Amino acid sequence: MSGLEEIPDDVISGLEEMSAEPGSGLEELPDDVFEERQRPVKESSKIKMVAAMDFGTTYSGYAFKLIGIENHENIYVKSWNDEAGGGCLPSEKAPTCVLLEANGDFKSFGYTAEREFSECEDPKNLRFFKHFKMILHRDQGLCSKTTIKDSNGKEISARLVFTHCIKFMKDDLMKMVERKKVDTEFKTENIRWVITVPAIWEEPAKQFMREAAREAGIEGDNLLLALEPEAASIYVKEMNVEVHTDMNQSRLSAFSPKTKYMIVDLGGGTVDVTVREVLPDRSLKEITKASGGAWGGLHVNQRFYQFIEDLVGNKLMEKFREQHPAAQLDLERELEQKKRNLTGDEQKRILINLPGELIELFEKTKGKSLSDFATSSGRYREKLEMKFEKLRMSLDVTMDMFKPAVDSILRHVEELVLDPLTKGLKNIILVGGFSDCKIIQKAMREKFKDFRVVIPQEAGLAVLQGAVLFGENPLIVSERVSPFTYGTRQLRYFLDGDPPEYRTEIDGTPFCKNVFNVLARSGQTFRVGQRVTTEVSPVKPNQTVMPVNVYQSNNPDQMYVDDDCREIGTMIVDMPDTTGGLDRIVDVSLAFGDPELHVTGRDQSSKEKVSVTIDLLKNN
Ligand SMILES: Nc1ncnc2c1ncn2[C@@H]1O[C@H](COP(=O)(O)OP(=O)(O)OP(=O)(O)O)[C@@H](O)[C@H]1O
Ligand SMILES: [Mg+2]
Repeated sequence: MSGLEEIPDDVISGLEEMSAEPGSGLEELPDDVFEERQRPVKESSKIKMVAAMDFGTTYSGYAFKLIGIENHENIYVKSWNDEAGGGCLPSEKAPTCVLLEANGDFKSFGYTAEREFSECEDPKNLRFFKHFKMILHRDQGLCSKTTIKDSNGKEISARLVFTHCIKFMKDDLMKMVERKKVDTEFKTENIRWVITVPAIWEEPAKQFMREAAREAGIEGDNLLLALEPEAASIYVKEMNVEVHTDMNQSRLSAFSPKTKYMIVDLGGGTVDVTVREVLPDRSLKEITKASGGAWGGLHVNQRFYQFIEDLVGNKLMEKFREQHPAAQLDLERELEQKKRNLTGDEQKRILINLPGELIELFEKTKGKSLSDFATSSGRYREKLEMKFEKLRMSLDVTMDMFKPAVDSILRHVEELVLDPLTKGLKNIILVGGFSDCKIIQKAMREKFKDFRVVIPQEAGLAVLQGAVLFGENPLIVSERVSPFTYGTRQLRYFLDGDPPEYRTEIDGTPFCKNVFNVLARSGQTFRVGQRVTTEVSPVKPNQTVMPVNVYQSNNPDQMYVDDDCREIGTMIVDMPDTTGGLDRIVDVSLAFGDPELHVTGRDQSSKEKVSVTIDLLKNN
């Protein structure tokens, strides 16, 4: 709702005073406002435990650290060995999947969910979900009612699925704390929870996560969202990290002031990149805005899967998924295992074991054997061999599975190292599970010969452990870069050059009605504690609530609210006291230096705090 057309004359003068210059209205926050701005609001002195969850697209884990409790100075990371049953995949993180009863009640999470689903006699009675975090990256119409599909294609509230996962991790984490026999009682207010989110997520997705956490029993006051590559950058800066270098292992000492380094978080879903500089006080400054894309390890699995689907036909594959969910899981595991073993130096064809159920189904449906079909008339007949259930793919086809992801990553990192802002950068640090991939490692080292490309020993856990360190000291990051241009819609006098279609007349005076009132520009640096203030006035004298739409754009020089920008939510400014009529003005302050967009308000005349909320999830 713009409401601008309805603005009476005497309010227009107030509107034109709104700050239109980026950075104007920037202020230091006084100390007492710090808690308001920097979530959580709990004083650090009360915190006895920081508990962090790395909720990944493919794998999730959690860890905690006790604060000020003797003999418990380490970060404890949950081990999933028991649940994993001694498989060869890593056990500090569990697959991000959840199994629900038919009515939506929670049944199990992670390895247990995978096992129970594949062993279940009638999987149609259960609801199995995996890889669902990506909907928060892709879905532009994200709202609290967004749904996701289970493995049978049936829809369910996405928030419920996220809530179940967070609740499981939270409860299990508390059991882990109990097992450590810590001689302290933890009240809710003594625990600071941290949940990691990709830095390239937009604000609505962060709010979605926060709401799911609240439903899982983590109150907003106790929760910090940590940006994944930022968490990894904290871990890398703080630790004397063991690294793999080209030839052998060595130690990467804690970075000294003025060092610039790039963190490339190669996850399952997203690749998230940040460039940081260590400041003289050893806090961290972000020097380019967070960037990246959906080029994580899962992309490779999906291409392998697509290859098999192309081979047998998508209708048949659909039938296979429906009739043999356990065998489908086996196939996914087989592809994962084969992908992990690849080095790029293989001399022979790559062997993939196809499930017997798929081969049988093919024969039954098509009346011929899959191996005969694949090697005689199939689309890839020259590129593969097949004997019994063993599919051998040529090396070039195999490498092709990695190509789009690898190319996108290389291109993106190249763009960043060429950016004048990153001048002096020497260290490129790969973290996240996909950084274990030899093909990526080789491609990065070959392409960026003039840089030190390093992979910390615990690359897969850097985000999780860094999230704990961030929870312990959120001020460890002192400057962040706005990933987008944010603003509100403004009415001002019509100027030469303004698009004629935005011209409107009020009492004979020409106004421009779609001006983008820039609050933060994409790429602009904000110190933690720095805020931007804009004035908000009611459009009717008896108005008690004023909604203000917030827009986002990629263009640092966005001038108008047009097709290049997107409405991301609404700020609701409370104005319960109507005695001032139209003369009431509320200063709304937005803190862009935080991991999440955060707003506060103050009545200009009474100086009283005013409630301002920001709703980024359209509830329709
Ligand atoms: N040795 C390996 N070779 C290739 N890929 C690997 C290897 N080890 C792990 N991976 C891949 O890394 C990905 C998992 O990494 P990680 O656990 O960091 O992701 P995530 O946190 O679940 O995802 P995101 O951070 O995108 O939400 C998976 O796609 C997995 O296949
Ligand atoms: Mg991750």
